[in-house]
Amino acid sequence: MSTTEQRVAVVTGAARGIGAATAVRLAAEGRAVAVIDLDEAACKDTVEQITAAGGRALAVGCDVSDEAQVQAAIDRIAAELGAPTILVNNAGVLRDNLLFKMSASDWDTVMNVHLRGAFLMSRAVQKHMVDAKFGRIVNLSSSSALGNRGQVNYAAAKAGLQGLTKTLAKELGKFGVTANSVAPGFIATDMTAATAERVGMGFDDFQAAAATQIPVQRVGTPDDIANAIAFFTGDAAGFVSGQVLYVAGGPLN
Ligand SMILES: NC(=O)c1ccc[n+]([C@@H]2O[C@H](COP(=O)([O-])OP(=O)(O)OC[C@H]3O[C@@H](n4cnc5c(N)ncnc54)[C@H](O)[C@@H]3O)[C@@H](O)[C@H]2O)c1
Repeated sequence: MSTTEQRVAVVTGAARGIGAATAVRLAAEGRAVAVIDLDEAACKDTVEQITAAGGRALAVGCDVSDEAQVQAAIDRIAAELGAPTILVNNAGVLRDNLLFKMSASDWDTVMNVHLRGAFLMSRAVQKHMVDAKFGRIVNLSSSSALGNRGQVNYAAAKAGLQGLTKTLAKELGKFGVTANSVAPGFIATDMTAATAERVGMGFDDFQAAAATQIPVQRVGTPDDIANAIAFFTGDAAGFVSGQVLYVAGGPLN
């Protein structure tokens, strides 16, 4: 690839939250960005933010846990935007419950979106990365990977993503592809707002309570995570691979 050619980034779960902030940030870094989410229409706001700033973006409806939809999405992105060589596996869902109340379907849903989704997307995109002899994969893990009450499914999936990341780094390194994980702590998004609602707290009170437990004394923003992802996806990060970066306002236990 010539240095003037635009790299194409794929960000999943990019209709809102961390994914949307990441898509906008990567576009600001000069990437063309495929904005993937379950509902193509829901991607419109993110795409408009990017195009309004002079960038290139494409809205793509795709369930990342569906093998055929993932392949179709990557084929469409390659045809309409260009061969993707940056992938951010960000799509995620919560189905929190204590073990004795957790259904097998809540376990499967979380595994399928986070782990199977990241596997399917990585497998579909790797061909383009290998052909280009360049690639950047970032998987969204979580502080919950270290264990979190009420999240056996999510904690296992987020720890699993760290193993997936390290293995991708080992398998694909010789093709110029790096893989890293960003593991956020508490970030103010619809996901944490839904958790506040589930536990019967107002979101402001929920964030204030969380902030008291964080060394920098505030909760994170989607941009805090987008900044870390921008580093890992940059050309300058080519010797950083297989790492997990906790972005949580302080060290975790
Ligand atoms: N918010 C936090 O505090 C926090 C902390 C640690 C990790 N994370 C992780 O960061 C990522 C983004 O979180 P967020 O807070 O922005 O969440 P969010 O709920 O605001 O956004 C997630 C997006 O993923 C999309 N999505 C869900 N299932 C999908 C599927 N099968 N296919 C395609 N898209 C799908 C949703 O429609 C939504 O737009 C997730 O992986 C989450 O687990 C979040």
